[in-house]
Amino acid sequence: MTASLAFEPITARIGARAPGFALDPEMPDATLAQLLDGLLAHQVLVFEDQHHLTPAAQRALGLRLGRLAPRHPMYPIADGIEEVMVIINDPDTPPENEVWHSDLSCYETPPAAAILAARHVPPAGGDTMWCSMTGVLEDLSEPFRGFLETLSARHDFRTGFAFVNEYADLARRETLKNQGDAAPKASHPVVMRHPVSGQPLLYVNESFTDAIEGLSAAESRLLLNHLAETVRHPRNHMRLKWKPGMVAIWDNYLTQHMALGDHWPAYREMHRVTVAQIDARAAGAAPRAA
Ligand code: SIN
Repeated sequence: MTASLAFEPITARIGARAPGFALDPEMPDATLAQLLDGLLAHQVLVFEDQHHLTPAAQRALGLRLGRLAPRHPMYPIADGIEEVMVIINDPDTPPENEVWHSDLSCYETPPAAAILAARHVPPAGGDTMWCSMTGVLEDLSEPFRGFLETLSARHDFRTGFAFVNEYADLARRETLKNQGDAAPKASHPVVMRHPVSGQPLLYVNESFTDAIEGLSAAESRLLLNHLAETVRHPRNHMRLKWKPGMVAIWDNYLTQHMALGDHWPAYREMHRVTVAQIDARAAGAAPRAA
């Protein structure tokens, strides 16, 4: 593998591969800035053959990007490392991320990015899809977009994880219940500005967003259903067929993602490090647009 970083776009709107590049938590600052600029430009970056990236190194890489999110209450961790969340499917653990979402949008400041490593890839299926939320917004008509810009939406952790109540895993049900009223919830503009680049993007998702504020329940449901439909349009998608050792890094504002459950009940294991906030100075990014 070479140390040089060059991106090959996967589609015009979303996704790029970085062939031959080895992710190294010790990479020079200039390379890191290039990587972060690439993330802003392409929204999802894919790196193959990263077998060297142990859970500890994955955490260290996350720390080079910025501050890490604390342990996720609903998932186990790898090698005793709190910030490396393990997502496993096996015959007893069905897929649960088969819904379009941005991670933890229910936080006041949602996570900026994620680093996902494929640890065990099923023999068939189990791809991940991402959707460009700048692309989705761009495709809306001006008057509709203008209306959306006046609105805010409510995002709730309990809405996002309500599905665990359908599962037999009593411990997870208990964890959710114990969150009680302290479970994270937040209000965000429906059209949000990216915290680093200032790009406008649609910021509601089918998992955590439970209502549009100020609308009647019926109006809110109608609008959320329509916005969910806009996210399904393949024009704004990229789909990744995982190979062992592959790593994807995504911007959690610019994109939503879903993990397809079509491999189940075969075993699939992914490790995710969630970056709470990216150090914008390292990105060499332009100041936020007014
Ligand atoms: C996630 O939703 O963060 C997990 C995605 C995946 O397992 O492919």
